[in-house]
Amino acid sequence: MKAYQLVLEGETPRLTVIDLPEPKPAAGQVVVRVRATSLNFRDLMILKGGYARGANYPVVPLSDGAGEVVAVGEGVGRWKTGDRVAATFFQEWRSGPAAPETAGSALGGARDGMLAEQVVLDEEGLVAIPEHLSFEEAATLPCAALTAWQALVWRGKMHAGQTVLLLGTGGVSIFGLQFAKMHGARAMITSGSDEKLARAREMGADFGINYRETPDWEKEVLRLTGGAGVHQVIEVGGAGTFEKSLKSLALNGHLHVVGGVSGFTADAPLGLMIGKLAEIHGIFVGSREMFEAMNRAISLHRMKPQIDRVYSFDEAPEAYAHLQSGAHFGKVVVSVG
Ligand SMILES: NC(=O)c1ccc[n+]([C@@H]2O[C@H](COP(=O)([O-])OP(=O)(O)OC[C@H]3O[C@@H](n4cnc5c(N)ncnc54)[C@H](OP(=O)(O)O)[C@@H]3O)[C@@H](O)[C@H]2O)c1
Repeated sequence: MKAYQLVLEGETPRLTVIDLPEPKPAAGQVVVRVRATSLNFRDLMILKGGYARGANYPVVPLSDGAGEVVAVGEGVGRWKTGDRVAATFFQEWRSGPAAPETAGSALGGARDGMLAEQVVLDEEGLVAIPEHLSFEEAATLPCAALTAWQALVWRGKMHAGQTVLLLGTGGVSIFGLQFAKMHGARAMITSGSDEKLARAREMGADFGINYRETPDWEKEVLRLTGGAGVHQVIEVGGAGTFEKSLKSLALNGHLHVVGGVSGFTADAPLGLMIGKLAEIHGIFVGSREMFEAMNRAISLHRMKPQIDRVYSFDEAPEAYAHLQSGAHFGKVVVSVG
């Protein structure tokens, strides 16, 4: 079976296709025929060799994938052949708080990931995918969707009448928009593109702000909220946006520190944090328990992930290039087989 692998040449990872033996499940393991995978910003960092939490090269890339169970090992009770499943980002984070070993169980970095025709995983590292979703749609859920869910719903306890702010129209933020509408919240979203803002409005965004035309967008957020600010921000921008996000926040609001598309090191404006009585959460994807709760909501609301473009397995390098270009809206998917 074929798989992609990131191999170090000197210090630089190179994406290559390799042939691996068909995986066989040991006791408690399941073989999944991967049908689709999706890319995240993190995968670009792992491709370039600059991922802060490291990667164990050579490594099969991509954390996110969905497929069907084709073989089960001895003693497997959770799954049978033919079940439609997605892998959990952290193979060892089942429920409750994260543990020291959680980060070391991340697929597509610490451990081999999903950009392969088949993978073998512990039966505990999988969730059932919502019935109404295709494999391509389900493959978008493990990282970006769960990150937005953990932030807004699990930690931020989003509820009807709140206002939330999403930055940019990438994977995490578009899921944030969809979860906000699902919960009856008002959603504001920024983008560097008017065309993308128009698409976000079609999906239910109540306000869109172009951060290129309005670089002081935090003032616009405050104006649009009558000076009150927003109850929650998913902070994916990092260096260039952290302070603006904090200024956009309502008193006692939740600021979810998720990413750094404009850099991962920002000044910490301590006075603002204190003055806003801000609840600041570091968010790292989520547990299987959170994933299962999110899937129940997605099923109930028959929510469909926003896929920008689907590439074939052979076109995986083009999928990376497309994500890198920033032209996408929502998720970039690689179909497998
Ligand atoms: N902590 C976690 O568990 C976790 C999980 C997932 C992702 N992340 C992090 O969250 C961030 C987003 O990830 P993603 O997968 O959603 O990325 P993505 O799909 O690549 O989306 C990034 C989007 O950010 C917007 N953007 C780019 N430069 C910007 C800037 N200077 N200011 C504001 N917005 C800007 C762009 O939207 P427009 O084109 O609309 O402007 C772009 O499409 C990354 O830093 C990633 O590492 C963290």
